[in-house]
Amino acid sequence: MTSLDLSPSGLTAPGTSSTPGSEWWRSAVIYQIYPRSFADQSGDGIGDLPGVTAHLDDLAELGVDAIWLSPFMVSPQKDAGYDVADYCDVDPLFGTLGDFDDMLDAAHRRDIRVIIDLVPNHSSDQHEWFQQALAAPAGSPERARYMFRDGKGVDGATPPNNWDSVFGGSAWTRVTEPDGTPGQWYLHLFDESQPDFDWSNPVVHEEFRRILRFWLDRGVDGFRVDVAHGLVKADDLPDYHAPEDGDSMGGNERNVPYWGQDGVHDIYRDWHGVLAEYEGDRALCGEAWMPTVAEMAKWVRPDEMQQTFNFAYLVSDWKAKKQRRVIRESIEGFGAVGAPSTWVLSNHDVVRHASRLALTAASPQGQGIGPDSPGKPIPELGLRRARAATALMLALPGGAYLYQGEELGLPEVIELPNEVRQDPTWFRTAGERYGRDGCRVPLPWNADEPAFGFNATGAAWLPQPAEWAELAHDAQTADEASTLSLYRLALRTRRRYGLGRGELEWLSGYRRKAVAFRNGEVTVLTNFGRRPVVLPDGARVLLASEPLENGAVPQDVTVWLVAD
Ligand code: NOJ
Repeated sequence: MTSLDLSPSGLTAPGTSSTPGSEWWRSAVIYQIYPRSFADQSGDGIGDLPGVTAHLDDLAELGVDAIWLSPFMVSPQKDAGYDVADYCDVDPLFGTLGDFDDMLDAAHRRDIRVIIDLVPNHSSDQHEWFQQALAAPAGSPERARYMFRDGKGVDGATPPNNWDSVFGGSAWTRVTEPDGTPGQWYLHLFDESQPDFDWSNPVVHEEFRRILRFWLDRGVDGFRVDVAHGLVKADDLPDYHAPEDGDSMGGNERNVPYWGQDGVHDIYRDWHGVLAEYEGDRALCGEAWMPTVAEMAKWVRPDEMQQTFNFAYLVSDWKAKKQRRVIRESIEGFGAVGAPSTWVLSNHDVVRHASRLALTAASPQGQGIGPDSPGKPIPELGLRRARAATALMLALPGGAYLYQGEELGLPEVIELPNEVRQDPTWFRTAGERYGRDGCRVPLPWNADEPAFGFNATGAAWLPQPAEWAELAHDAQTADEASTLSLYRLALRTRRRYGLGRGELEWLSGYRRKAVAFRNGEVTVLTNFGRRPVVLPDGARVLLASEPLENGAVPQDVTVWLVAD
C-alpha cells in the first residue's frame, strides 16, 4: 500500500534535481496552454504570454504541477505557430522574450514547472534557412538542410514520390529557381509553408542542440517534441499511400516510410545527453502517434525521452473492456522499459473529449467535426462521460496531461461558420475535412465580460458560442457541482493520496461493465453499464463524477472511495 503523502506537492521545487525514480514528471499533472486561445492581455483577439502570467493563480488553484505551452515563437502562423521562423524569439503576437522570462519566473514561484513546444520536423518557409535554400542552387549546402529532390519525368514535373501531406494534398511543392525556371521539389509532411528538415545532415543536429540549450539556459523544465516520430525518413523515400480514413498523424498505420524510423531514436539519445547537462530533472515528452503502446514505449527507453503521449489511451473507446485493456497494456508496455505511463484525453489536435466520447460515428484524428458531420454527440451525455473519464484518468499512476478548457467541460465547437475556419486542413482538403478549429476556441473566463473575459475588447480569433456564458470560469468557481470543482477536487485528492506515484491493483468481484481497481488506499470504480454498481461495505466517497443514486454508482460515473 502507498503511504499517505501529506507534503504540499510531493514534488521537488523547479530547478532542483531529485533522486532517480522520483523525478517530478513521473507523476505530474501537466496542463496544456494553447497560447492564442488562453487569455489575451493585449486585446487583439489572440491570447498572449502576459495573459498566461495573469492566470497563473487560477492554475495554481486548479492544482496542476506544470504547464506545457504550444508554440509562441516567431511564426507567420500558417499552422497556428507550428510553423516556426525563428526558434529563439517570441512572436510579437504573443509578447517578448522578457514576457516569457516573467511568465517562467512567476510560474516557478508558484512551484509550477514550464515545458515548451519544440518543432524539429519542419520550419516555416519564412525561416532564414529556407529563404537561403530558395536562393541557392540545387545541390548547395543551403538546400541540404531541407529535403529538396529533383522531380520525376523528362521535365521533372512529377513529384519525387506519391506521399500525401497530413493536411491533405501532395507532400511536395515545386520551387521556381532564382533564374525563373521550374525547379526542384521540397518535402512538407504538413502544409507547403512547413518544409521538412533533412535530419541526415549534421548541421541540423547542431542547430537543434543550440535551440535546446537556448531555452534550457533560460530555465525551462523541458520540451514537448512535435511530430517526434517523423524526423527521419526511409532511405530513397519509397512510395506510400496513407489510407483515406486513417488518423492524420499515422496513429493507426504500420510500416510508414516517414513515421517511426529507427534513426529518430539516435536524435533523442543525443538530446537526452543535452538535458542531462542541466540541473533540475529536465524532461522531453514526445508526440509520437504510433499504433501500439509497445511502439510508443520505444520513445521512453532509459536513454531517450522521459515521457511520450499515450495516444492509445486517448483514442480508446468508452467501453469497460477497451479501457481495462488499454490501461493494462499501458502500464505493462511503458513499465517494460522502466517508464511510467502518461494519460491524456484531449489536446489541440483532437475533438474535445466532452464531445468525442459521445460521438456515434467514426471521427479519425485530425479530421474534426462540423455542421454536416454524421453522428453528432448529445452534449449532456458527452459531458457526463468526460467527467467520468477524467476522474478515471486522474486516479491512474503516472503523468497526466490536461488540455485548457477541459476543466470547464468545454465541448467541441461544431457549428463554427466556414468563413472563420483557419486550420490548414480545411483549406488543403477544400472543406472536405473540418480540421481542428473546433477545439481551439478562446476560453471563457468571466460570463458577463466581453469575449467572456478572454480579453477586455471582445475580439476573439474564433467566435465563442453564446452558451459558453454558463461554462465560464467565474460561473463555475463557487458551484460545488461544476466541472471545475470536480477537477480541483480530483487534483487535490490525487496529490493527497499520492495516486500519481502509486500502483494499480485490479479488483475482481465487480460486474464486467465496471472498471474497478485500487491505487494505494483509494478504490476507483467506473460504471459503463446500465445496472448500478453497489459500493463495497464501509466505503467513504472521496469523489464522485456525478451524484450517486440510492447509494450506488450509476452508468457513466466514476467514484473514488476509501475505507471508512
Ligand atoms: C502536431 C501538432 O500538435 C499540430 O498542431 C501541428 O499541426 C503538427 N504537429 C505540425 O506541426
